[in-house]
Amino acid sequence: MAPGSGLLTPESYLYEEFYGLKEKPFSKTPDPRFLYQGRKHAEALARLQLAVEDMDIVLLTGDIGSGKTTLSRALIDSLDERFHPVLIINPRLSPTQLLQTVALRLGVDEELHARHGLLEGINAKLYEIYEAGKRTAIIIDEAQLIPGKETFEELRLLTNFQLDDRNLLALVLIGQTELRVRLAKRPYRALRQRIGLQYHLGLLDEQETGEYVAHRLSVAGRDAPLFDEGAIAALYRYSDGVPRLINVLAGNALIEGFGRGAAAITEEIVEDVAEELK
Ligand SMILES: Nc1ncnc2c1ncn2[C@@H]1O[C@H](COP(=O)(O)OP(=O)(O)O)[C@@H](O)[C@H]1O
Ligand SMILES: [Mg+2]
Repeated sequence: MAPGSGLLTPESYLYEEFYGLKEKPFSKTPDPRFLYQGRKHAEALARLQLAVEDMDIVLLTGDIGSGKTTLSRALIDSLDERFHPVLIINPRLSPTQLLQTVALRLGVDEELHARHGLLEGINAKLYEIYEAGKRTAIIIDEAQLIPGKETFEELRLLTNFQLDDRNLLALVLIGQTELRVRLAKRPYRALRQRIGLQYHLGLLDEQETGEYVAHRLSVAGRDAPLFDEGAIAALYRYSDGVPRLINVLAGNALIEGFGRGAAAITEEIVEDVAEELK
């Protein structure tokens, strides 16, 4: 069936098929399979990996939609069986709730807990994991949601556990840009001094926007160019290089292009979609 014939079922007979794609290239999920490793994302990932390897504390910040959660998933995917990653994605937790969550996720059992109390129970478990030849990495996404300095203080205490000068865990703090401002304040000084590495994830420039789009299309099964130069320029203009916004615009442009029976996505298509979404 040809597109634009009026016989189409709503939204699709799949535009994927029309454009030679095996799946949707611009879905919202932070799927590490689609990870575009431009300079910024590659550098951020390398630093996170290094920090985990060294059992260090690292802070990754970036704007909303810049790719932080995607990187956290890619980081976890990249860790082999020598690592024991614990991902906390909703850290709106009181100090006690935080410790309970960590204890639960590490597998601190009743007995350990009863014998040592919460904090020491975690310490004992961390040591056990270490003895078994593994390294614990606690990864906290959306860390700007941590309610107060007390919860951060608890995190700092966790990182105090050491063995022969080696940390017993790596701590990866990921959050929106404001987290960096917050941690610069006086009450957080002790924690800040422990942070070995900081990285701020920048937004994509126009060239990277083109590479990003091409990469996602390629993972979805299409290597031939689909968005022309003008379309990429418009994607960049309307998104400011924020990957999440690029995805929304590009995904809608594909639906629109398909509806028009367009063989390539042009500047005009992207502009029309962007104006409509405003
Ligand atoms: N480097 C990247 N490679 C592939 N997709 C990305 C990349 N960065 C961001 N995205 C996509 O952009 C959207 C927003 O990314 P996300 O990781 O949720 O951002 P954040 O956590 O910073 O708000 C997701 O759909 C994600 O798949
Ligand atoms: Mg996120």
